[in-house]
Amino acid sequence: MLQNLSNIKEKAVKTIKEAADLESLQEIKVALLGKKGEISQLSRSLGSLSAEERPQMGQAINQAKNSLEHVINEKMAELQKAALAARLNEEAVDISLPGREFLCGGKHPLSLVREEIEEIFLGLGYKIAEGPQVESDYYNFEAMNLPPEHPARDMQDSFYFNEKLLLRTHTSPVQARVMEKQAPELPVKIISPGVVYRRDDDATHSPMFHQAEGLYIDKKVTMADLKGTLLIMVKKLFGADRELRFRPSYFPFTEPSAEVDISCFACGGAGCRLCHGTGWIEILGSGMVHPHVLEMSGYDPELCSGFAFGVGLERIAMLKYGINDMRLLFDNDIRFLNRF
Ligand code: DAH
Repeated sequence: MLQNLSNIKEKAVKTIKEAADLESLQEIKVALLGKKGEISQLSRSLGSLSAEERPQMGQAINQAKNSLEHVINEKMAELQKAALAARLNEEAVDISLPGREFLCGGKHPLSLVREEIEEIFLGLGYKIAEGPQVESDYYNFEAMNLPPEHPARDMQDSFYFNEKLLLRTHTSPVQARVMEKQAPELPVKIISPGVVYRRDDDATHSPMFHQAEGLYIDKKVTMADLKGTLLIMVKKLFGADRELRFRPSYFPFTEPSAEVDISCFACGGAGCRLCHGTGWIEILGSGMVHPHVLEMSGYDPELCSGFAFGVGLERIAMLKYGINDMRLLFDNDIRFLNRF
């Protein structure tokens, strides 16, 4: 039996040393030391030995078991090391490759313009107001002095949900919402940036675009206040030597109404391609709030007056950053957006 044990051991050491990989080593281990393995079988036959032989044989089996375990563990470590080396070799890092670019986001040009305008008016004591994009016919048109059959409604064709509900065509309805809430408290001083919608779509019009509405109502507000306020805005946005020009215009919610131009920042007023040779660039609509608009929202036109204006943010961004197609602002092309 002792001879048998030493034969098994000798053979086992040889097969262990020859094991090609961890899997076959595991199989060898089970065949030797597992429950039904060769060594266990020997232990089971101890019962057939005499009382003197038994302890001697038992000890020999244990020694063999320990030393085989040791050989197996050594072999396992060796195979593991080799496997790791092979994997590292396979997955070797080429340190001469360029690194991965880290893409860093930035603010959209429209956000930059909106924030700049907000900053200017916050600095003048205005509050930021918001209104819903899904607006009622009442606030979008009627409260802005555009009754149902008014022909000027055609200037702002919109998207309707039903007869009474539409996507707002301008930020002007926020005027009525704010006044209604605050009346008759003075002053009303708000700037309201936001998204608006119209049925327009070309290089300078998008069906979805952005405006900022300004409204100031107090005792004895005049057109001079409007001009002074807009001059501050325009100088901050386009440079300290910009000038303003008011052209008579028509909006149902203001009387008188004016379209406002700035002196061309590209040529300084001499006339160039940007200003179509006129020296002036149109930037917004404005006027003195119509007495009827004040009245409808709870203010007495005998006691107060106010000015309002509405400015297109896309137009400001396009002028400020020299963008020639409005659609670029909505394409989300990272090469374009990265330039701001
Ligand atoms: N709501 C006008 C538009 O979208 C712009 C406008 C003009 C707003 C004159 C005003 C204003 O507040 O006084 O075309």
